[in-house]
Amino acid sequence: MERIQAAIQKAKEQRGAVVAPSPGGVGGGVGPGRGPLRASQVGPAWAELAAFDPEPRLLARNHIVTFEDVDPAHSHFDILRTKMLRTMQRNGWTSVGITSPTSGCGKTTLALNLAFSLARQPDVRTVLVEVDLRRPSMARQIGLKSPQSVAGLLQGSRSVAESFVRYGDNLAIGTNAQSVRDSAELLMNARAAEGVAAIKSAFLPDIIVYDLPPMLQSDDAMAFLPQLDCVLLVAGAEKSRLDEVDKCEKDLAEQSNVLGVVLNSCRYMSEEFGY
Ligand SMILES: Nc1ncnc2c1ncn2[C@@H]1O[C@H](COP(=O)(O)OP(=O)(O)OP(=O)(O)O)[C@@H](O)[C@H]1O
Ligand SMILES: [Mg+2]
Repeated sequence: MERIQAAIQKAKEQRGAVVAPSPGGVGGGVGPGRGPLRASQVGPAWAELAAFDPEPRLLARNHIVTFEDVDPAHSHFDILRTKMLRTMQRNGWTSVGITSPTSGCGKTTLALNLAFSLARQPDVRTVLVEVDLRRPSMARQIGLKSPQSVAGLLQGSRSVAESFVRYGDNLAIGTNAQSVRDSAELLMNARAAEGVAAIKSAFLPDIIVYDLPPMLQSDDAMAFLPQLDCVLLVAGAEKSRLDEVDKCEKDLAEQSNVLGVVLNSCRYMSEEFGY
């Protein structure tokens, strides 16, 4: 852990004004003190959702290591999860977006790892929403075949129950089966804000994780920022340039709260870190 923090500190120094997640303890007890939830206990919206059981081998192939705890890398996502929850609870935030400078940095992989890690906290209700409407990939990465459309919910043409599936009792997942044109206009429309409000009132989530598009290839992520309390920026170790990370962090900091920067796919760490 000290070595990760040292690496992050070094990256911060090299990268200028990049903000790391606030310090917080690691471990359980971060929920608001409720006991384990049952779908039927947390409101009809949860109970109405179709149950979804992903195939563990597919998830492992797609680097989603928090579904099972066989890969030691899962513990690093658990640490990130706990720090995020602590920081968000301290600030009264529930909505976090995950973005990156360009495509392929690992946003969706991180969002899924966080979501399944959060799902292992039985007293925390988590909603994972794919807001990458141009190039959706989440359903494929988790092997979800049902034709979901979060875009439809944000356009006002679909209900919450039609837009999400439920993993276990406390994780709702909303994806997009098809890409959408004019996605920035859709995300800026007042209907999108109504869709977000519908998600919150239906699920009463402790945390909503939004998988956003990359920042430098379209204005979609910026268009959705008003719906978020905070953002996490993912930098691809061999993809993202320093100036790209700096520009994104500055643009995000002007309009939202930057929770931190995650350096993904770094080859140059000790083997023990795995991921
Ligand atoms: N740490 C990692 N180690 C190895 N492969 C990874 C890692 N993180 C992500 N990948 C792989 O890299 C590819 C891109 O990841 P992912 O889809 O999560 O990126 P993204 O930022 O969401 O991309 P897009 O902008 O296209 O939505 C995927 O094949 C994923 O499995
Ligand atoms: Mg993605």
